Amino acid sequence: MGIQITPSILNADFARLGEEVSRIPGADWVHVDVMDNHFVPNLTLGPTMVEALARSTDLPIDAHLMIEDADRNAAAYVEAGAASVTFHVEAAKAPVRLAREIRAGGARASMALRPATPIEPYEELLPELDMLLIMTVEPGFGGQRFLDLCLPKIRAARAMLDRHGIETWLQVDGGVSLETIERCAEAGADTFVAGSAVYSADDPDRMVAELRAAAEAVRA
Ligand code: DX5
Ligand code: ZN
Repeated sequence: MGIQITPSILNADFARLGEEVSRIPGADWVHVDVMDNHFVPNLTLGPTMVEALARSTDLPIDAHLMIEDADRNAAAYVEAGAASVTFHVEAAKAPVRLAREIRAGGARASMALRPATPIEPYEELLPELDMLLIMTVEPGFGGQRFLDLCLPKIRAARAMLDRHGIETWLQVDGGVSLETIERCAEAGADTFVAGSAVYSADDPDRMVAELRAAAEAVRA
């Protein structure tokens, strides 16, 4: 798996989202943060907006669902055209069934862990997933400080994936910037979400390229 850079539009201008996405043509995915004001104390957008965004760009949509009752609510995002759908394991009653339903709907299935959620109980689930997301901030807001305490979990997850010989991508999200991306890449992440780092840059697409170069340099 090569390095993938996935800008989050959470800190973009929500009144001009289509335009904002067109500022990152060099990205691999667009990361869309769905928040319901219950699972996290913030409210963003739902399937209607995801569908509109999917229509407005050639980039695939990486939907990160920070919502309760993921078992019932995730399907709407597959139908809306998200190419990857991430649910939080803390919000899913039947993560195996849910991952299979997402895959059956034609999207990549991904599972996220909050900073305090350990990876070890989920080792046997990894082959069911196309991507594992290890949060490096408490989900809810962009612009928070990267939590170094999550690095050992990234390393542990990388070791598990290698041991099982599976292709599941390992994504990090939260506080990823030119200052922190090398630590994540060194720990074994291959897919990087960056929100404020990209959208607070004068040239977001150039920042995507710089983040990619920094992560690739660690790999080399
Ligand atoms: C946080 C979201 C992130 C957020 C990242 O709950 O899941 O995707 O937008 O923003 P930064 O990169 O600013 O931490
Ligand atoms: Zn996110």
